[in-house]
Amino acid sequence: ISLQPYNTFGIDKKARFFVIARSISDLKEALAFAEEQKIEIFVLGGGSNILLTDNLDQLVIKNELKGIEIIEEDGENIWVKVGAGEVWHDWVIYTIDQNWGGLENLSLIPGTVGASPMQNIGAYGVEIRDTFDSLEALHRVDKSIQKFDALACEFGYRESVFKHKLKNQYIITSVTFKLSKQPKFNIEYGAIKETLDAFNIQSPSVKAISDAVIHIRQSKLPDPKEIGNAGSFFKNPTISDSTYQSLQKEHPEIPGYPNEEGVKVPAGWLIEKAGWKGKRIGKVGVHEKQALVLVNYGGGQGEEIVSLAREIQASVLEKFGIELSPEVNFL
Ligand code: EPU
Repeated sequence: ISLQPYNTFGIDKKARFFVIARSISDLKEALAFAEEQKIEIFVLGGGSNILLTDNLDQLVIKNELKGIEIIEEDGENIWVKVGAGEVWHDWVIYTIDQNWGGLENLSLIPGTVGASPMQNIGAYGVEIRDTFDSLEALHRVDKSIQKFDALACEFGYRESVFKHKLKNQYIITSVTFKLSKQPKFNIEYGAIKETLDAFNIQSPSVKAISDAVIHIRQSKLPDPKEIGNAGSFFKNPTISDSTYQSLQKEHPEIPGYPNEEGVKVPAGWLIEKAGWKGKRIGKVGVHEKQALVLVNYGGGQGEEIVSLAREIQASVLEKFGIELSPEVNFL
């Protein structure tokens, strides 16, 4: 079948086999089928962080395990277990409706709950690890269900153990979040402050912050239903303090955010300064409002996006001496 409806870049590549799993027993059946056929599997969530460059000679399993279940609460917090196949933003809106705090800054991120810990999704000063309690995952070979706490997930900036040591070994079946009944808000991010001011909101609520984030995202990021894309295409690189200081001499306006390893520089700024913002090459291009987002205007191929990405990497390397690494997974 064509995977076009199942990836937000809207790329028309095929899967040899495709199945929708709605339960753990569906997953086990699918794994058994793959073993029998001696083929690999690929687990798909919302398809919002992949770039298809070829047909998949695999069994694609679309994870649609649903369910939202309160498992514990006290005066301050509530622990909620959520099926991996729930749509991320629908889950966030559910928490906003209950006035539970913690996920409001992560409104409108595409994808599914099960995919969120894979790359420790983040936006506007918050990452999923901040509200993450644990997850459950099915081991692909021995079929046991195992529990991982935050430490075991080895979260980093857009990273987790499931992209490295444990790659292709588990299928995430649920994620448990620890949310707050007396939310402390994270509104340090400039754009959030400005939007709350513009909306004339003095004392924020989870709903007000969620609305502000939705407003910011809609003004900058293309809606995948209209223009194919997978959000940020590259990660924001961290460079050494000395590299940053020497770049500052040439580009005094270069933004930078110090962290433990050095200074994080917005890839979008580097790409824009290298002249790529809004550039279109055939059916693909660089988004006109956010240079970190590569887009498929319709009918573009994965290979065209890959070659555009390579050109961008080469030109940023040449201009700034900085290597950009993709945030999107190439398949
Ligand atoms: N900038 C430019 N030109 C651009 C884009 C950005 O100069 O075309 C500079 C500006 O200085 C701006 C700064 O980059 O102030 C930061 O831009 P923005 O707030 O849009 O965030 P980002 O660093 O480009 C990251 C995440 C996004 C997340 C936003 C908001 C990564 C790879 N991306 O983008 O996540 O929504 O911050 O917190 O860390 C995603 O992962 O798919 C994603 C969209």
